[in-house]
Amino acid sequence: MADNRPIGVFDSGLGGLTVVKSLQYLLPSESILYLGDTARVPYGNKSKKLIESYSTQISTFLSEKGCKAIVVACNTASSQALDMLQDTFKIPVIGVIEPGVNMAIDKSQNGYIGIIGTVATIQSDAYQKALKLKNENVIVLNQPCPLFVPLVEEGWITGDVPKLAAATYLKGMNAEQVDTIILGCTHYPLLKDIIQSAANDGTILVDSAEAVAAEVKRILDKNNLSTEITASGKLECFVTDVPLRFEMLARQFLGSPIEHVSTVDLP
Ligand code: DGL
Repeated sequence: MADNRPIGVFDSGLGGLTVVKSLQYLLPSESILYLGDTARVPYGNKSKKLIESYSTQISTFLSEKGCKAIVVACNTASSQALDMLQDTFKIPVIGVIEPGVNMAIDKSQNGYIGIIGTVATIQSDAYQKALKLKNENVIVLNQPCPLFVPLVEEGWITGDVPKLAAATYLKGMNAEQVDTIILGCTHYPLLKDIIQSAANDGTILVDSAEAVAAEVKRILDKNNLSTEITASGKLECFVTDVPLRFEMLARQFLGSPIEHVSTVDLP
């Protein structure tokens, strides 16, 4: 039996649209409800308690809207609140950390893996623990990059300022011969070229969006939750505030304009 209910996806802001883009590519028949908590972004400098509470409010909203699964398209929320959400909600809740970790382990040749992310994600040690669980021999280097999210939100994704930030942040990883770097924040794919040029030649950047889409497909198939392949998936977006330059930012993250956007007040 086909299940035509939408997949719920959320992020602290618009970064999670990079995951939506991969989902639309891999699962074009699935409909998606996206919620960007634009009124409260960034999550990266907030406490675990607050991130858990925001994530619960959003997941409640998405499940009340009839979603059949929830994708936490935010590394910060995945690192702080995923276990709690999986315990609280009856539908599958999928985070972005594990798929990225599996991809990095597959790609790294020398076992030196770097993680870049928000302060909250790096401090949580969620990536480090997940990597070590898969392979205890990997050497993990962490680097918080707090300037990257505001740079992306400002649309500063090329030029000297992001270049200098990236060169400064990656200095330690380059010195340690890290050969694979996980982009541990859904905003960072927009800085991929800058990060690639700041890293040592040949460094592999892991953008977990593709790996997350593959994991969502696997879970939907396993739980008989997939829609008919003949269906044509729709995207409906909700934000908690319409930020300045919303159109430009949304188009950057998604690769195409957003058509249906509503503003919601979360309880
Ligand atoms: N997109 C969020 C993430 O993946 C980061 C933005 C924020 O700090 O809220 O971690």
